[in-house]
Amino acid sequence: MPSAGPTKAAGRAKSRGMNIQNGRDRILASFASQPVDRLPIWLMRQAGRYLPEYRELRARMSFLELCHSSEACTEVALQPLRRFPLDATIVFSDILTVLDAAGAGLRFVTGDGPSLANPVRTPADAAKLDWTDMTGKLGFTYKAVRELRLAAPDHALFGFAGAPWTLFCYLIEGEGSSDFAKARTFARQFPEDTTALLNHLADAVADHLIAQIDAGADAVQVFDTWGGLLSGEAWRRLSLPSLVRVHQRVLAHHPAARTMLFVRAGHLVSASTEAGYRAMSLHDTASLADARLPGTVTQGNLDNTCLLAGTDAIRAEVRRLEQDLKGGTLGHIVNLGHGILPSTGPEAVSVLCEAVARIPVSRSP
Ligand code: CP3
Repeated sequence: MPSAGPTKAAGRAKSRGMNIQNGRDRILASFASQPVDRLPIWLMRQAGRYLPEYRELRARMSFLELCHSSEACTEVALQPLRRFPLDATIVFSDILTVLDAAGAGLRFVTGDGPSLANPVRTPADAAKLDWTDMTGKLGFTYKAVRELRLAAPDHALFGFAGAPWTLFCYLIEGEGSSDFAKARTFARQFPEDTTALLNHLADAVADHLIAQIDAGADAVQVFDTWGGLLSGEAWRRLSLPSLVRVHQRVLAHHPAARTMLFVRAGHLVSASTEAGYRAMSLHDTASLADARLPGTVTQGNLDNTCLLAGTDAIRAEVRRLEQDLKGGTLGHIVNLGHGILPSTGPEAVSVLCEAVARIPVSRSP
């Protein structure tokens, strides 16, 4: 299996008189904007359908059965680590399990994506949700985090949750959508019920993140995938307050928590820094150079389609990243700008890891 990354990077690190780091060291150093022996890398959706071994396991159990089995979650999270020199592992779960725990009735229909049995279409529907004992109902994920912590001690371990606004979109719409028109209409028609729902979601998300940190997660990522549907003004009104509420509640329990915020939108980079998360996870439509402000930790931004376009395209995209980082590589974690596409060939990920390991890194803060 091709995995030249660590060996070559280790050689270069040694020649610079730097100790060889493991993946966890690299990620934690990057969060502290400290030097690394090579740039750390992980990939959004790194466990999943592009891996034949994942598809094999999925042929034997449904997606939700998989999420509920800590043993299967650990196996799936380890699959990409066996193939590629990635530096972090992310607990296997889904952002929508929180909605299931509140009583929305989550199902995954093969080929059609997620679907809720009880979507919220009116304020009366919202009143039927049950927000009690959310972490009790989501205990299977914390068990998976604890087991993964033991199974991957040399990798950074990430927990995650959906942003309240993104969860609100699914909760109202009841399924995936390109515009979430029902959710945006509900927000206009019922502004007070919208705020109340976003607050419930924020508290559930914060407690879910806190429990994942308690179980051993080194950092947690909040995915605001559908924040990108909103203008800057609307995002500041509809998504930002609940993201801040999540963050404050997490920091009240874990003042030094490493928090990462992903917003799938280039136009929201400056607005999203206002949420105060430690790291900004950038979509490929964002300008990395604009986001590289002193003291900010950045990640992401690589176009996931480079992995479909062949070796030269991957190397060209990595050269573009190197150019954008020419002010210094400290505090940058390599990642895609959105999840790895299911049609990606696993060998493309090896090519990416090798190209990233060749990026020269800044040696002093
Ligand atoms: O490796 C990892 O990143 C960990 C697991 C993970 C999954 N979903 C597993 C999954 C993570 C971090 C997510 C996040 C997620 N889920 C997001 C936010 C990030 C993003 O991609 O924008 C969103 C919006 C969802 C909701 C969701 N889950 C959808 C729309 C779908 C169906 C379509 C799709 O993208 O696959 C899922 C299902 C899902 N979640 C799968 C996986 C591996 C595929 C399930 C299968 O095996 O069929």
